[in-house]
Amino acid sequence: MLKSVFFWIGFSIPLTTTGNLGMSHARTPLIAGNWKMYKKIGEGVDLVRQLTPQVAGVSKAEIVVCPTFTALQAVGQAVQGTNIALGAQNCYLKAEGAFTGEISPQMLLDAGCTWTIIGHSERRQIFHENDKLLNQKLRFALESGLKVMFCIGETLEERENGNMDDILERQVHEGLSGLNEADFGRLAIAYEPVWAIGTGVTATPEQAEDAHAFVRGLIGEHFHQAIAEALRIQYGGSVKPDNAAELIAKQNVDGFLVGGASLKADSFAAIVKAGAGQ
Ligand code: 13P
Repeated sequence: MLKSVFFWIGFSIPLTTTGNLGMSHARTPLIAGNWKMYKKIGEGVDLVRQLTPQVAGVSKAEIVVCPTFTALQAVGQAVQGTNIALGAQNCYLKAEGAFTGEISPQMLLDAGCTWTIIGHSERRQIFHENDKLLNQKLRFALESGLKVMFCIGETLEERENGNMDDILERQVHEGLSGLNEADFGRLAIAYEPVWAIGTGVTATPEQAEDAHAFVRGLIGEHFHQAIAEALRIQYGGSVKPDNAAELIAKQNVDGFLVGGASLKADSFAAIVKAGAGQ
């Protein structure tokens, strides 16, 4: 009983902060660029050199860029001392060993990362990563000290068949299994409907809000209401400068995971500013 009272107090603090668009936004927006398999080292460094001055004044959002592995260190050096953090796009579930082609959270931390993405739909679909594997990766990344953007989302077929809720519930339940309350402090969920990724078809603000509210409800059910309230849920899927403001205006949309539009400094900066309400 005492533990649960303490627990509530611990999680009630971030809920009092306010944020963007002059509205009460309970959680600091998290806006990340997933560069996917784009940008060689020099191109990545050029991109963040252009981006840095454009977002230097942004104080009401957390900004992350996630380059390819080969560009991490150079981009990390280029963003040192700025308000842009470095993230990776994936990592393995061991610190080291005979795992040809893989990279560990320890190596990412060594390269300057504070964040990683885990469970992107491209990893799930193209590389057949399942919920169990992703849960192991997530837990090891968190235990190693990284912060994680954990991706979930349904395909068009799943949505049209009315299976969206079941899919999201499975991904949340199995993907986040075994996490403790401290882990949630270093976790964000990225809701990325597969049908909206790279297609130019963005979820409407209402579709995003519905899915985010549903996911927040699941976290409350499976874990704790206060954890659910504090957790940031990003939207990803064809986010552009001209739809970012209406998406972030929704109560349960706490930032973005941006693909294509993060590859140009001007468009990513515009999304960051819209997301921050600045
Ligand atoms: P797009 O923004 O290109 O649709 O990609 C979204 C995404 O997959 C981010 O992780």
